[in-house]
Amino acid sequence: MRYLDIDTVPKISTIGLGTWQFGSRQWGYGTPYAERESRAIVRRAIELGVTLFDTAEVYGLGRSERILGQAIEGYRDEVFLATKLLPLVPVPPVVEQRAVASANRLGVRRLDLYQVHQPNPLVPDTVIMRGMRALQRVGLVGEVGVSNYTLARWKAAEEALGARVLSNQVRFSLAAPGPADDLVPYAERTGHVVIAYSPLAQGFLSGRYDGATRPRNSVRAFNTLFLPVNQKRAAGLLRVLHEVADAHDATFAQVALAWVIRSRAVVAIPGASSVAQLESNAAAAEIDLSEDEWQALRDAAVRFRPAAGPATLPGLVRARLAASAGASAGA
Ligand SMILES: NC(=O)c1ccc[n+]([C@@H]2O[C@H](COP(=O)([O-])OP(=O)(O)OC[C@H]3O[C@@H](n4cnc5c(N)ncnc54)[C@H](OP(=O)(O)O)[C@@H]3O)[C@@H](O)[C@H]2O)c1
Repeated sequence: MRYLDIDTVPKISTIGLGTWQFGSRQWGYGTPYAERESRAIVRRAIELGVTLFDTAEVYGLGRSERILGQAIEGYRDEVFLATKLLPLVPVPPVVEQRAVASANRLGVRRLDLYQVHQPNPLVPDTVIMRGMRALQRVGLVGEVGVSNYTLARWKAAEEALGARVLSNQVRFSLAAPGPADDLVPYAERTGHVVIAYSPLAQGFLSGRYDGATRPRNSVRAFNTLFLPVNQKRAAGLLRVLHEVADAHDATFAQVALAWVIRSRAVVAIPGASSVAQLESNAAAAEIDLSEDEWQALRDAAVRFRPAAGPATLPGLVRARLAASAGASAGA
């Protein structure tokens, strides 16, 4: 495993683990996954040197935090624990109360990284950060982070806190390469961190799915990337991914992760549906892409223009119906 050169305890691993999947109906991995596999995934991740674990109060309406909290019992010092506040009414007393509730579900006395899940369009960060500052003062929160913030708002949040807002967690992958243009260079220059979520584009970049084989859970039934039109449009990107994967004797997913974390300011938090996936993802930390490979993948990513918007609605409705039919057949 590799770690960021940033002054946290413990150091942040460049491959972390996202846990939205834990206890989530939308991912639909079921009871055996929530009760056994998720714990096995976390324990194996710790063995492999993964330190960064990401959850949120909203995942599974608190179940993800509970499952993760139980799984790290006995390993607290080896884990850099990150959770998120859903900022619906983010006035300071609510921010403080939500942090205490998350810590209780996780069974810990300190949140290493407490992130604002989304920018609130109405409440400015000057208000939210008053709550964060109070939480840092009493030691319940270590680092403050944001998520889905533009660069301008990230900087404004930091000014409002009056201290570093360590990280911005954003969608970043070969299917969503935008952060490489602005957030990543900023983080590199200033000692901040970009946390890449959906780094495998929810499995789209694994090469496992195509027009005929589609994932059947509700998260991905609403993800336009999995529509046949976008599978076709991604052919060029997947071809380059294939070439680079062959050159490294690696999988598509591993190269997709290695591409995201090539910058020393970026970490990725892939979710995993099995221990084997977690192991494969953790191993991606060791892959060194050359400058040419990174650039070829970036060019292919920029050329990939997935269909989006109203034109994709009929396809999404069909996918949604197929997902519901699959769920009732499997129930
Ligand atoms: N801040 C935010 O707004 C936000 C939004 C979304 C996610 N997140 C965070 O980011 C984490 C990751 O994002 P995500 O779950 O949306 O997407 P992701 O990590 O890109 O995709 C995860 C899915 O990809 C498949 N997969 C994982 N490893 C694989 C491998 N080695 N080979 C083949 N397939 C593999 C698995 O699905 P199958 O096996 O079922 O195909 C897995 O559930 C979440 O758990 C959450 O913590 C944050």
